[in-house]
Amino acid sequence: MNMHPKENDLSAVVEKDRVSVWHHLSQHKRYENSDPTVIIEGKGMRIWNAQGKEFLDAVSGGVWTVNVGYGRESIANAVRDQLVKMNFFAGSAGSIPGANYAAALLEKMPGLSRVYYSNSGSEANEKGFKMVRQIAHNKYGGKKYKILYRDRDYHGTTITCLSACGQPERKAQYGPYTDGFVEVPHCCEYRSQYGDVDDYGVRAANAIEEVILREGPDTIGALCLEPVTAGGGVITPPEGYWPRVQEICKKYDILLHIDEVVCGLGRTGTWFGYQQYDIKPDIVTMAKGVASGYAAISCTVTTEEVFESFKADPDDPMSYFRDISTFGGCTAGPAAALENMRIIENENLLENVTEMGEYLMERLNGLKDKHQIIGDVRGKGLFCGAELVVDRETKEPVHESVTQAVVANCLEQGVLIGATNRSLDGLNNTLCLSPALICTKADLDEIVTAIDNALTAVFG
Ligand SMILES: Cc1ncc(COP(=O)(O)O)c(C=O)c1O
Repeated sequence: MNMHPKENDLSAVVEKDRVSVWHHLSQHKRYENSDPTVIIEGKGMRIWNAQGKEFLDAVSGGVWTVNVGYGRESIANAVRDQLVKMNFFAGSAGSIPGANYAAALLEKMPGLSRVYYSNSGSEANEKGFKMVRQIAHNKYGGKKYKILYRDRDYHGTTITCLSACGQPERKAQYGPYTDGFVEVPHCCEYRSQYGDVDDYGVRAANAIEEVILREGPDTIGALCLEPVTAGGGVITPPEGYWPRVQEICKKYDILLHIDEVVCGLGRTGTWFGYQQYDIKPDIVTMAKGVASGYAAISCTVTTEEVFESFKADPDDPMSYFRDISTFGGCTAGPAAALENMRIIENENLLENVTEMGEYLMERLNGLKDKHQIIGDVRGKGLFCGAELVVDRETKEPVHESVTQAVVANCLEQGVLIGATNRSLDGLNNTLCLSPALICTKADLDEIVTAIDNALTAVFG
């Protein structure tokens, strides 16, 4: 196609996108008759599309990533300076930003002592799974190889990460899966499996112990959990849950792998979500908010004990961690991550998350008082969800198309919100909010007003 765009006319770009790009999570039939979205620019909390329309972004880049907001020149400069000095060398060697970031990160994570670099959340989790499997071989004769994951949690897109996926619609049609992954029950109190009980958190944790006993404790190497379940419906852990989970892991010598891909860094008001609940993990994985999307980086962080087990027998050429991630050697990631961390500290963004998070919850609870359709509001810091139900008594979820109608109405008003989608059979009914850590009360008012209008428009 021969097109000569005028200055600022991006229709040719949109056309190239339509005919050339295969988008994530998208049914492309609709692009035969309508334009795909192309985002051109971002500044702070706002983005602009190819048609020049402005949106307030309440989901930090669609998938809770751009924690420090758009258009950060200091991060771009840090990355540029690093790239012209030294852009890449295989991760078997070190780099200045790699060393500096690992040390700075570990200062925020007492009890943990080693950082392994790669470049996506899925990959970071795969590294964790590989560590567990190799520890099983090196220490337990291959026996302690099973990895537990939780119903409704998500850990990534590869076949093995999908083997550890508690979201049936995410994993459907991509099997067969990797052996040795076993599901434990969810801990969403609003959807209690035990009726209306006072000790829901302890019961939900005890349900994990039941699975361990059923499978045989000597076969279980690790338990992998999100501190707050993200795409599975923004599920905050119930009272009493984490202390009991920790106790169970200790009792059966099971490593606790915490997936901080969404909660790290800063999303809940502490550097990591696990720090809200006094959890002592053995392995922590992180990606999205590490460099706020300015560069691709992920980290698998471990205790010294986990690390040490890979150097216990230097005479065995097979016993060290024989993993490689080519782009784990890119220096742009840690250079961006260092500046990202400096911004969070210098601008007191953790404090802002706590304050703004409380305000957002208050405003969402106000919406719940007004709209019967909201069955439950939950969240921690600037990570909130509102579950939509047809009837508060029966808790019957609204259909996914209805949830999407609310999202679409907000979009028309210029506010980008998220929702659980193609994740859980019949339960894609939670609106999700994860605005950047820099947001103000005025931003949150605009977001809540848009949702209020959308709920009125869709449900009356
Ligand atoms: C909790 C969690 N873990 C892991 C991942 C996978 O990260 P990535 O898409 O960078 O591979 C995601 C992505 O949404 C996630 O939400």
